Amino acid sequence: MDKLVIEGGFPLKGRIAISGSKNAALPILLAAILCEGTCRFHNVPQLRDITTTIKLLTMLGCEARREENGDIATRTIRLVSEAPYDLVRTMRASILCLGPLLARTGQARVALPGGCAIGSRPVDLHLRALREMGAEFILEDGYVIGRCNRLRGARIVFDFPTVGGTENLLMAASLAEGETILENAAKEPEIVDLANFLQSCGAKIEGQGTSTILVQGVNSLYGQPYRVMSDRIEAGTYMVAAAVCRGELLLQDCPVSCLKAVTAKLKEFGVVFNQSEEGLLVRAEGRLTGADIRTEPYPGFPTDMQAQLMALACTAQGSSMIRENIFENRFMHVQELVRMGAKIRISENTAMVQGVERLSGAPVMASDLRASASLVLAGLGAKGRTEVLRIYHLDRGYEAIEKKLSAVGARIWREKE
Ligand code: UD1
Repeated sequence: MDKLVIEGGFPLKGRIAISGSKNAALPILLAAILCEGTCRFHNVPQLRDITTTIKLLTMLGCEARREENGDIATRTIRLVSEAPYDLVRTMRASILCLGPLLARTGQARVALPGGCAIGSRPVDLHLRALREMGAEFILEDGYVIGRCNRLRGARIVFDFPTVGGTENLLMAASLAEGETILENAAKEPEIVDLANFLQSCGAKIEGQGTSTILVQGVNSLYGQPYRVMSDRIEAGTYMVAAAVCRGELLLQDCPVSCLKAVTAKLKEFGVVFNQSEEGLLVRAEGRLTGADIRTEPYPGFPTDMQAQLMALACTAQGSSMIRENIFENRFMHVQELVRMGAKIRISENTAMVQGVERLSGAPVMASDLRASASLVLAGLGAKGRTEVLRIYHLDRGYEAIEKKLSAVGARIWREKE
């Protein structure tokens, strides 16, 4: 297993190119199950979750491979409807093959993802909505087994704007018979990207990016080339890196319009932004000031940036109140930040952070993807040496993080644990 070693306290200066979005690429790749012909995807990041998705597609009977230029090409051959536990347990997003398999083959046997480090994360809303379209499910040996004749359009009102649920249903409805209306749908930019891809393949979708999405089912979809959007969470993480290190970073291919809640919050901390043709310049000088944060569904402040902002709040002047409204138990980074000298108290879903002058380096353990990112950020600003253990979480979601950071002046490298 690898660990990251960081010598903290060096200012960052330079350019970072933002990679393709992991959370957009995962459903878009799985949407290839719905398509006849060949799909070709550009701007798909080199990450462990993407390798897992390629493996999953291959097991499901969809040829998928990364080509020399980095593109991923897929072609459905003969679909098999089983997504085994060994793959699903390493990547919860595997559940996103359920909608496409049911829509294309009328059957699916997908391992239930179970709990994970940031809460129980059930899939009841996915199943309930697919039932309304005519699917029947039984749970057996840890698998959800679904069957249907052709799915029927339905009016679905989500109890909560679930991102994965909206994506699963959007894919299922694209090949269903008749009209589907998704109400209280999630509005995340990755859903818009998925809808845009499906549209380019022939799907009839309106309203993506709003809480009501209308889908007129079609008989078939045909694979097309598609460029995946840039990763807003990776971009947000590097914004915080500039802020933590009082540096100056130019972020290229930064999806600025999807990051309004994050840039607004960072401005409250005292970070300065300048947009030009070259990219988004992020600059921070002197000690920043704390601010309160509440995570919300898009366009609110994203839960996937909560841990990173907490790392920043640890050394900002004054106190910051951070409330997590999306996931239970998403404060796994707190105890590790405390070991680096942070002053944080948790009460239920709220963390009170009292800023200290500086954190000090320590060996810390990463527990999930964004928690790992927050520990790297804390280490970049801390005095002395930090070792972030168990970085396989980071490798699921950040392309070449230590290379990108060392190219702009950070002292960070990978070693064997
Ligand atoms: C996606 C993102 C993840 C992000 C999250 C919220 C991907 C691959 N992952 O996860 O990075 O943190 O959106 O922005 O895109 N819930 C239920 N029942 C369900 C579905 C969800 O109770 O059937 C609950 C979850 O437990 C959670 C909340 O709803 O508390 C939000 O989950 P959801 O929006 O579905 O997140 P994911 O799609 O899993």
